[in-house]
Amino acid sequence: MNNILGQPVEGEDFFDRENDTQRLWSTLEEGNHVLLLAPRRVGKTSLAHRVGQEAQRFHWRFALADVQGCRDELGFLDRLFQELKSAGVHVPALARLTEFITYARREFRGKLGAGDFSLEVNSGEGHETSTLEHQIERLFRDIEQSGDKILIAVDELPVLLEALEEADPDQRRLHAFLNWFRGLRLRYRENVRWLLLGSVGLDTFAELRRLTATINDLQPESLGAYDEPTAIAFLQALAASKGIEMDEAICRLVLDQIGWPLPFFLQLVFHEIYTRLGPPPRRKPTPDDVKQACEGLIAPQFYKHFEPWRGRLSEGLDVEHHKTAVTMLNALCAKPAGLSRSQLTSLVQAKFPSKDPDDIARMVATTLGQLERDGYLLKQAATEDGGTTYAFRSFLLRGYWHAREVA
Ligand SMILES: Nc1ncnc2c1ncn2[C@@H]1O[C@H](COP(=O)(O)OP(=O)(O)O)[C@@H](O)[C@H]1O
Ligand SMILES: [Mg+2]
Repeated sequence: MNNILGQPVEGEDFFDRENDTQRLWSTLEEGNHVLLLAPRRVGKTSLAHRVGQEAQRFHWRFALADVQGCRDELGFLDRLFQELKSAGVHVPALARLTEFITYARREFRGKLGAGDFSLEVNSGEGHETSTLEHQIERLFRDIEQSGDKILIAVDELPVLLEALEEADPDQRRLHAFLNWFRGLRLRYRENVRWLLLGSVGLDTFAELRRLTATINDLQPESLGAYDEPTAIAFLQALAASKGIEMDEAICRLVLDQIGWPLPFFLQLVFHEIYTRLGPPPRRKPTPDDVKQACEGLIAPQFYKHFEPWRGRLSEGLDVEHHKTAVTMLNALCAKPAGLSRSQLTSLVQAKFPSKDPDDIARMVATTLGQLERDGYLLKQAATEDGGTTYAFRSFLLRGYWHAREVA
């Protein structure tokens, strides 16, 4: 097993997630399309590869299209068709479409209107022409009829949707795209299944724009951190692969230091512990190694691993909600034990002195909800005196936030 920091893991490097894999795979196999939403870095892309591997074991084809870099509909289709081709889909419509997309992206760059799939495609047979939309229908009909089963994963879908919205603030393009995509999923579901992935927020994104109907055919699924025994077993497996020993007490100390055992954070901490052990023959890690490793992760050279949490906080939040989020996170990063909801509300009220208290309460509620779901904050059960409190879920992220925003 390799100690991988940031890239999706596959094969031997992928640890556990057995229940998640089986749950997702059986949901898909039974005939559902799935929407997997979870905070960044939880391990969605890695899990999608693992589910794909499971699908292949049952002789399904598997394609994974990362659409993060796609700016428009044609970019999306281009990525999708390339991946279908790599997955071994061989139907005549695919070759024709791939060729057309290359041509259209060159000719119509920036000129394509609202979700416009009515572009004319020369079918090559005689003088018959057809629209892009028809050709895509034909492609999926061919796939269905070929009898091959295929699982298509689309990674980072919300990023593409935001790009579509940016390109056309009236949202006509976004609506057209989502409606078209839903129609495609509903019409061809015999041998085709979709697994759509994104960081939490797509459901809120759709709700705010009254687009929920365009994703309501998807079975929602989520993914969390490892539970404690799995996290310990993972650290021990990493250690074993490097020929060192980490006893249970040391592993528990790691968990106490990081708070939230995402596989990614465990990989990061393990890497730091390991580099402290010196050249071979390496000694056993000590509690000091663990503490120093965790403290060290807040240094500037590690900012890049946490930057997306700060840089992408504004996604899905308007200016006022973003300011509310920053106000609360800035206060919480200095309070490991957390703050009560009323304390947080007062802080936000102070930032917006002329705003109505009811509006403040609503804004705090929405923002807390999002921060909780995106994995920033953990809501702690009401105590006898103080009511609900909120605290940073990941102690590493808390340290980083403090270093960047407050210190
Ligand atoms: N099952 C796993 N086994 C081992 N490491 C994992 C696993 N899942 C995620 N990771 C770690 O987390 C990092 C991020 O995983 P990734 O799948 O890219 O997450 P996401 O797509 O949710 O952002 C990986 O680089 C790896 O360090
Ligand atoms: Mg990912």
